[in-house]
Amino acid sequence: MTAEKLQTPDSGHPPDLMDKIVSLSKRRGFIFQSSEIYGGVGSVYDYGPLGVELKNNIQQSWWREMVFRYDNIVGLDAGILMNPEVWVASGHVGAFTDPLVECRNCHRRYRADELEQVAAGNLEAQQCPSCGKTGEFTEPRQFNLMFKTFMGAVEQEAATVYLRPETAQGIFVNFKNVQDSARRKVPFGIAQVGKAFRNEITPGNFIFRTREFEQMEMQFFVKPGSEDEWFETWKERRMDWARSLGIRSERLRFHQHGPDELAHYCKDAYDIEYLFPFGWQEFEGIHNRTDYDLTRHQEHSGKKLEYFDQAANDRFVPYVVETSAGLSRTLLVVLADAYDEEEIEGDTRVVLRLNPALAPVQAAVFPLTKKDGMPEVAEKLAADLRGSFNVFFDGAGSIGRRYRRQDEAGTPFCMTIDNQTLEDQTVTVRDRDTLEQTRVSLTGVSAYLHEAIAAARNQF
Ligand code: GAP
Repeated sequence: MTAEKLQTPDSGHPPDLMDKIVSLSKRRGFIFQSSEIYGGVGSVYDYGPLGVELKNNIQQSWWREMVFRYDNIVGLDAGILMNPEVWVASGHVGAFTDPLVECRNCHRRYRADELEQVAAGNLEAQQCPSCGKTGEFTEPRQFNLMFKTFMGAVEQEAATVYLRPETAQGIFVNFKNVQDSARRKVPFGIAQVGKAFRNEITPGNFIFRTREFEQMEMQFFVKPGSEDEWFETWKERRMDWARSLGIRSERLRFHQHGPDELAHYCKDAYDIEYLFPFGWQEFEGIHNRTDYDLTRHQEHSGKKLEYFDQAANDRFVPYVVETSAGLSRTLLVVLADAYDEEEIEGDTRVVLRLNPALAPVQAAVFPLTKKDGMPEVAEKLAADLRGSFNVFFDGAGSIGRRYRRQDEAGTPFCMTIDNQTLEDQTVTVRDRDTLEQTRVSLTGVSAYLHEAIAAARNQF
């Protein structure tokens, strides 16, 4: 860990932001602790009604960017369980490890590189951050992060399979299938979104590091010799995408991996980092994986994974430039960057300033009162909008409180049916960010929303 990473710079976030995000996530139904009624389970989270919408919207924006936008990228959805030889070939069985130390006094386990004195080799001088005892740490041992399970009816070593620790290998082993069936010429890419599992020694910071998470990965297969240029291209494209989500530029930066940080398969790697309340941390990596993976799978499977360039009459194993983002971690970035508090009339307004195209609910519809047919008009408007948007109908309670609830959900537009609606068939549209209220005709609300969401989406 570099000195730069040990400091926690002033992130400009509201105080205690992580606690506030955890609390809002539960209160509004973004994220719950898994198996909460049983006391939870080590660092796994469930996405509630708002969380699953936000996650889907981030995922779709990534998919549109990667698969729809470039004509040389296609999608894949591979299985989580794979032939265990995949993980021998990829190097994960042998090398996907973290150094683990344990305090003999309280039995808390730590990653050795997270404890300053242990990392420097001074085990005797290290005090346990949990129980305070000095010099009680075991020698570091390598701990494999892959979860094991058994396939079939026998629980024996021969039937061991792994939950994938990255989605990438599903892409590598399908390289030939996809290239042949989709008739792609190098350079081309394969994109995938899915679950990955790592038995992290020290998970934490809410959904930042969890044992079950989702990745959005793309492997771009290129001719050897062109990988450096493609690496630069993908670095820029990925940073542009992060900015297009609305994440503040001043909280984004690149971090190049030093020799001590590079994964076993990498020649060069850059992280895209976000300035979290707990410091600069990665949420996406761009990696030059050379021909490491395809060559290893070729050797271990005995199947040729070469590409034949007909025009040049040339046969080669492609190099790979990988873009690998955490979907759940990107969601935390989006939440942290959108969370805002402002004082209004002696009260604190909590608002998620989400890009409207990412917002879980795009429009809320309220009848001002339960009288004069307002609920019926509001219900009809909500029903008309539902085909195109995720709409929330809220028919009771003070209008102020209804607005505040939607502010916390990040809903960009609230439509209120009031007395004037009954006279002139217009509704109040209240903007989440500016709090401005405009009148829009009932028949024009759909077009208004379409335009606003399309404009927000065009930023992607
Ligand atoms: N295929 C390359 C690969 O998996 P990685 O840097 O290990 O690279 C890529 O992971 C991304 O996956 C990270 O930038 C992060 O966003 C996400 N990620 C990794 N481990 C995670 C964890 N335990 N919890 C949540 N997200 C994680």
